[in-house]
Amino acid sequence: MSDNKVILNYDGKSFEYPIVDSTIGDRGIDISKLRDQTGLITLDLGYKNTGATISEITYLDGDKGELLYRGYPIEQIAEKSNFTEVMYLLLHGELPKAEQFNSFENNIKKYNFVADELKKLIDVFPRSAHPMGVLSSLTSALTAFNPKAVDVKSKEELDYASELMIAKFSHLCAWTYRKTQGLPINHGDNSLNYVENFYKMAFKLPNQEFVMDPVVVAALDKLLILHADHEQNCSTSTVRMVGSAHTGLFASISSGVSALWGPLHGGANQAVIEMLELIEKDGGDVNKWVEKAKDKNDSFRLMGFGHRVYKNFDPRAKIIKKAADDILGKLGIQDKALDIAMQLEKVALEDEYFIERKLYPNVDFYSGIIYRALGIPTEMFTVMFALGRLPGWIAQWREMRLKGDPIGRPRQIYQGATERDYLDIKSR
Ligand code: CMC
Repeated sequence: MSDNKVILNYDGKSFEYPIVDSTIGDRGIDISKLRDQTGLITLDLGYKNTGATISEITYLDGDKGELLYRGYPIEQIAEKSNFTEVMYLLLHGELPKAEQFNSFENNIKKYNFVADELKKLIDVFPRSAHPMGVLSSLTSALTAFNPKAVDVKSKEELDYASELMIAKFSHLCAWTYRKTQGLPINHGDNSLNYVENFYKMAFKLPNQEFVMDPVVVAALDKLLILHADHEQNCSTSTVRMVGSAHTGLFASISSGVSALWGPLHGGANQAVIEMLELIEKDGGDVNKWVEKAKDKNDSFRLMGFGHRVYKNFDPRAKIIKKAADDILGKLGIQDKALDIAMQLEKVALEDEYFIERKLYPNVDFYSGIIYRALGIPTEMFTVMFALGRLPGWIAQWREMRLKGDPIGRPRQIYQGATERDYLDIKSR
């Protein structure tokens, strides 16, 4: 290997592959000519070493526990910014000036309602339906109400589709919650900001004045900021992959919602609380559950622990842990689940198994505790994650289309049957 290329010796020949530079973090080997030149492909299950794209949106350093949105450290953003500003930053690459912020917010408010026909769709779901399934379906259905394909060459169209999606998606998230509660569904209130508007749409009771609790709004804002983007994670890669076929924005986002639902991804925040409740019901012996997580014959894993990229700590978990302490303190809530979480964290962090494998609490370990303190039901946690991740999905979709990334189409190494003749059913 020299500084700017890698040399591969194979089958008596030598091949050179250029190194692709980064501003910070991983550099890559450009192997786009590998198959043509050598007849070989690479195999990297779970894409642990594969760069799927070149991006300028989010950077994370798993060893240092560092996360930057467009270059800004998450710690500064979480303390000083707000979710609407973060959405703008992710989409447009820079923090907005005052007039840009106002125009962005006003545009979102223009679309702060959802076509009434969509209410009929939500009616047909049983109340017991998981909100993530409902959310994915409704997001896909939005396409029917906004059928125009986005011309990505037009900045106006791209911005319009993004702002439309941001406005409508908060309704769908609120509506999925109201569906589970049997509450009538409602439209937005333009006197409120994005997070307040969502909070009211989701939680206003039909028989009471709505009281806007600033502690809850601040907590929701912070949680949404912390979830806003995380480079090429499973759901974002899904959105990019679907969009790479030039599928529309709304349908691509709908597939991201489905990917996020999984318990190894966004669904972990629900799984964490269910696990803490289970441990509590079982008598609260955290050592027993840590042993179960270490046992290779037991499928149980400590939910909220471990991360594909963070091998030091998850910077979002640090911020969220502090926020969880503050919020529970402010709301005067004693939560047994939080006590168990603290014990579990202590035992696991001192255990060789977790130390060796660099398994630390991730963002989902604490977010569920805050959601629970805010009175949000467990099944809604992943919907909250989706609402936060939306600007990241949109920003990544835009970047992929604007850069003209080709359709995503991996290869495979085939190890199935070789060619054989079809046998009639009686002869098998
Ligand atoms: N509990 C017990 N053992 C674990 C855990 C866990 N939570 N996570 C990883 N391990 C072990 C795993 O068994 C393996 O051990 P060995 O080397 O002996 O076979 C080793 O650690 C490496 O695990 P891996 O599954 O190869 O690592 P990965 O990078 O493929 O998976 C992960 C990352 C997040 C899917 C995994 O750590 C996990 O399943 N965690 C629990 C679910 C969770 O909290 N997910 C939320 C992730 S953060 C938010 C988000 O992305 O949405």
